Amino acid sequence: MAVKKMWGGRFTAVSPEFAQEFGASISFDQVMAAEDIEGSIAHVTMLGTTGILPQADADTIKAGLIEIQDELKAGKIEFDVANEDIHMNIEAILTAKIGPVAGKLHTARSRNDQVATDFHLWVTHRLPEVIKAIEALQTVLVHLAETHVETILPGTTHLQHAQPISLGHYFMAYYSMLQRDKERFQFNLEHASVSPLGAAALAGTTFPIDRAQTADLLGFKYVYNNSLDAVSDRDFAIEYLSNASMLMMHLSRLSEELIIWASYEYQYVELDDAYSTGSSIMPQKKNADYAELIRGKVGRVYGDLTSLLTVMKGLPLAYNKDMQEDKEGVFDATTTILGSLHVMTGMMSTLHIKEDNMLAAVQNDFSNATELADYLATKGMPFRQAHAVVGHLVLTGIKTHTALQNMPLEQLQAASDLIEQDVYTDLDPYEAVVRRTSFGGTGFDSVKQQIKTAKQQLDLG
Ligand code: ARG
Repeated sequence: MAVKKMWGGRFTAVSPEFAQEFGASISFDQVMAAEDIEGSIAHVTMLGTTGILPQADADTIKAGLIEIQDELKAGKIEFDVANEDIHMNIEAILTAKIGPVAGKLHTARSRNDQVATDFHLWVTHRLPEVIKAIEALQTVLVHLAETHVETILPGTTHLQHAQPISLGHYFMAYYSMLQRDKERFQFNLEHASVSPLGAAALAGTTFPIDRAQTADLLGFKYVYNNSLDAVSDRDFAIEYLSNASMLMMHLSRLSEELIIWASYEYQYVELDDAYSTGSSIMPQKKNADYAELIRGKVGRVYGDLTSLLTVMKGLPLAYNKDMQEDKEGVFDATTTILGSLHVMTGMMSTLHIKEDNMLAAVQNDFSNATELADYLATKGMPFRQAHAVVGHLVLTGIKTHTALQNMPLEQLQAASDLIEQDVYTDLDPYEAVVRRTSFGGTGFDSVKQQIKTAKQQLDLG
């Protein structure tokens, strides 16, 4: 049934039901019910202490809101689409509980600053959870890196074998990517933790409100300086989605490598049975479904970001109803990034690593060619010339199926008389890693240093 609205005073007709449903947001903004009540409790507390409302009225309203809070936790609250959104639903429930005095709650407030407050609160409440989930994955990566400082595999560029690297170094690269993600979300908290409450509809209010008090009660660090900006700013949500997109891009790259590494051709890793799935027709199959799904879910989060950027791009100041479209993407991205992080953490912590296959892959692949070029350059040959000399040796090696380290000394010396017996030490893939002692390189000491720094960052003993 089409119901008369709370704002219906100046209206003579009600919208048809399908239009009301189209305009309503309660189906999704009920996710912010706890934040809406929290915001109202802070607001009415302030209305009481400033004397804007008689203390007795403020107390009655607050008690009613606390009751609703308890009922919400107990799952006893039901929402009605006729009441449009979470704000009017809670107010309607409050009115049913305490009567017309509930109507005083909305003094010196608009739904515009109310919804902005709820949304800021919702994001600030989720950010620590996201940061914690990133840290859990980082912790697994650090432990993996620690176990595999001396596990050697071919590092690739263009997906072609390039130079031998430490597997620990590889894991620490992902650690570093996640560290930047974490720092971005931490900074995001600075922009989300700003109180819009008290901006009212757009221009502030004639009532003697105390915005600092409500900001404090709600745990916001700052207060918006400009009421127009306060009600129309969604930058914090766009930043959140942008950070979420970048995080998902990183998880997707890791997923992609796991999928390749678990393939028959590579066999560098085997995913645990708990994190793989079978086929309904091919009994032998073990698929990396979870990694694929994380890779696939990136599309959703990029979509959420693009959607909000597009919603906001042509909006005049201040609030516009378009902005009701700001929330679902943020809710969806949150479920997606938390789910992806948890699954990736489980998948990585149970990963079976096949060190022997990694080492075998680096033994006959010419990925030590740079070692030989560096060897010649160290002995005074210009690097460009060394590159050409080794290139010719590699060509011969490919034709004769002989790795550089398996060529007899005479053959190497025929290419350059600078080569001596000690070259074989340099050609050992393990040595190639050990010798990369430059800062941030794959040498074992460098990897250990990275792990040490990471443990400090994570507060791990
Ligand atoms: N449901 C609305 C939203 O999510 C609340 C704000 C409504 N304000 C207004 N002036 N119509 O944006």
